[in-house]
Amino acid sequence: MENINFDEIKTKNPKKIAVIGTGYVGLPSAAVFAKWGNNVTAVDVDIAKVEMINSGKMPIYEENVEEFIQEALANKNFIATTDYALAVKDADVVFIAVGTPSTEIGTADMKYIDEAAFSIGQNLSEGKYTVVVTKSTVPVGTNKRVTAGVLKGANGRAVNFDVASNPEFLREGYAVYDSYNGERVVIGSDSEKALDVLSQIFEHLDTVIFRTDVSSSELIKYAANTFLTTKITFINEIANLCERVGADVKSVAEGIGLDARIGKRFLNPTEIGFGGPCFPKDVNALYQLGLENNYEFQILGSVINVNKQQMFRFIERVTQRFGSNLENITLGVLGTAFKDNTDDARHSGAIDVIRQLRGFGAQLKVYDPMALATAKQMLGEQNIEYVDSYENVFDKTDAVIILTEWKQFKDYDYENLVKNMNNPVIFDARYMLDPNKAKQSGIEYYSRGRKVL
Ligand SMILES: NC(=O)c1ccc[n+]([C@@H]2O[C@H](COP(=O)([O-])OP(=O)(O)OC[C@H]3O[C@@H](n4cnc5c(N)ncnc54)[C@H](O)[C@@H]3O)[C@@H](O)[C@H]2O)c1
Repeated sequence: MENINFDEIKTKNPKKIAVIGTGYVGLPSAAVFAKWGNNVTAVDVDIAKVEMINSGKMPIYEENVEEFIQEALANKNFIATTDYALAVKDADVVFIAVGTPSTEIGTADMKYIDEAAFSIGQNLSEGKYTVVVTKSTVPVGTNKRVTAGVLKGANGRAVNFDVASNPEFLREGYAVYDSYNGERVVIGSDSEKALDVLSQIFEHLDTVIFRTDVSSSELIKYAANTFLTTKITFINEIANLCERVGADVKSVAEGIGLDARIGKRFLNPTEIGFGGPCFPKDVNALYQLGLENNYEFQILGSVINVNKQQMFRFIERVTQRFGSNLENITLGVLGTAFKDNTDDARHSGAIDVIRQLRGFGAQLKVYDPMALATAKQMLGEQNIEYVDSYENVFDKTDAVIILTEWKQFKDYDYENLVKNMNNPVIFDARYMLDPNKAKQSGIEYYSRGRKVL
């Protein structure tokens, strides 16, 4: 990734911006808006987060966010608060970036959006024009719901606002980089005035600002994420087939990715399927949105099913090697984060795999460069030792399992590390090792659909 001179990139039209929610999307967005020269107030209902941010410490890890926030706090163009009035009163633009987790049936839970819209309505200044923008990933039609919520909160006061959508495409771990370097900014509204105000926030960036109607904008985010899950699932199924026919999935991925119509990205197979805070919930939410509109989105139905099966196929691989009673087996685990470069383990496939293996009685020694604390919160201590160095994961274990694609996992000296194990067995769910080198190093190496020459 190229270096960006952050100090040179500034807005031409500074605005008063409120950001609602200081999570993995809201906080980096607020930091970047402030860095561009806007006056930003971030609101969260979680007072501990707000206090931490105002003291210059970040509740999440994202590169550059801490330094941007510290600088903006010193320049007094950023503050975090629990007080909606402070943020929303006189704001030119309010971005809603609260969570939209899955309900039990897989639809998007809109309770945080509803609460935010109501609180915004309660606190908008009368007369002052404000654009209320949904940045959270939401079903089509949410703009109407936000309008109704704001009006309910305003309770008859003469508020002057339009709603808009600005779906977020940032990748966790690269949020700031992506905010400067995104391939497009999508803005949707049925009001030209709102689109004009919103585009001024991004027009200093060297990127396409794609203007569309609000419903299309809402759907673009789900369509983008579910297309990517489909691409991952496709290559995962190719890996399953490679395993049976003696082909190599990495070669197949490279060979098809060279075709510009297909493209190389998101063709990395993963034996445990896709996970994380967005993909699983978004694919379910779009599938459910189809059903609510009398349409069965069959491709997504398959994506959901195949992805569920991937993890069980992987567990089966381990139990085939060691038997289904793992009580006397100690497994080393590399990675709990749902992807590299983040401390986020929400809906991480790694967490599910650890739970399953623990269910079979295994003892686990677990390491992650950043997401160990989150994993510990989610899994507790039963049968699990959390270790602070990767070397420890190999120490007297019966097998090592690689579950996250941290780049440094590629560079470890596996040939020597396996000498400390009871058996030199590695299950590489993330395709990090070269199977030929692994074989030459005497490693009993498992990775679905790889060919050893
Ligand atoms: N995480 C990602 O990589 C990513 C990427 C693109 C889009 N999104 C979407 O962005 C949205 C936010 O995701 P996230 O990962 O940042 O969530 P998150 O859980 O990390 O953060 C949400 C924050 O909102 C706060 N909140 C809840 N209700 C509130 C209210 N009424 N008023 C003020 N604050 C409130 C919570 O306390 C929390 O801090 C979701 O819709 C998600 O799908 C996420």
